[in-house]
Amino acid sequence: MKIYHFEELDSTNEYAKKIAEPGTVIIADKQTKGKGRLERNWFSPLGGMYISIILEQETPVITLIVGLSVCKTIRRYGLDARTKWPNDILVKGKKIAGILTEQGQEYTIVGIGINANISLDCLPEEFRERSTTIRQELKRDISKGELIEVLLGKIEADYNVMREGRVSELLEQWRSLSAVMGKTIEVKTPGKSTKGEIMDIDEDGALLLRVKNGTIKKIIAGECI
Ligand code: BTN
Repeated sequence: MKIYHFEELDSTNEYAKKIAEPGTVIIADKQTKGKGRLERNWFSPLGGMYISIILEQETPVITLIVGLSVCKTIRRYGLDARTKWPNDILVKGKKIAGILTEQGQEYTIVGIGINANISLDCLPEEFRERSTTIRQELKRDISKGELIEVLLGKIEADYNVMREGRVSELLEQWRSLSAVMGKTIEVKTPGKSTKGEIMDIDEDGALLLRVKNGTIKKIIAGECI
């Protein structure tokens, strides 16, 4: 594994696209143009953790698997981190980390942002209500070096389990840490919004939602609100 570390980048995902070599990890202390899902910005001040991992081309379930590794990493600090389909990690219902997966021709980039040593009042006002940070929850800072080490270790272990064809074991862990399983929620998909009860996630990482008339809808891409 090759690791590149920068004090500042526009976006680790963008830099990863230039390198495009599986097995490479890009880390930045801060980002000037951090990207979130759905064309949003990812606020990326000093103190947060911003990392992109270049993998061989993978199916969309990789987002859930890396989300699981992130969730388990944050739980190591005694926080009740939970997964939220498809790409959020929550603590007490508030977002503490997010994942942005981008597919290239021959590779997949998984970008991870964790609100680590950041004060809540540093975040833009519109995010403050729905977000939290490790500093906010623990009332102290953590070692970012250790955070990265634990995270990379968990990702490697879970990735190996996936490569051995044991995705169902990982999805079982994902379900048990889910903040939304069994809940009735609204899922926004491009152009519309569907309300239903979250029944499960399937082997491809799609969400299975029971809608009003009792049918089960499979949602491949979207956002739970
Ligand atoms: C989201 O929840 O919308 C996804 C946020 C992903 C942010 C990370 S930070 C490292 C990597 N580089 C980026 O520009 N974005 C991802």
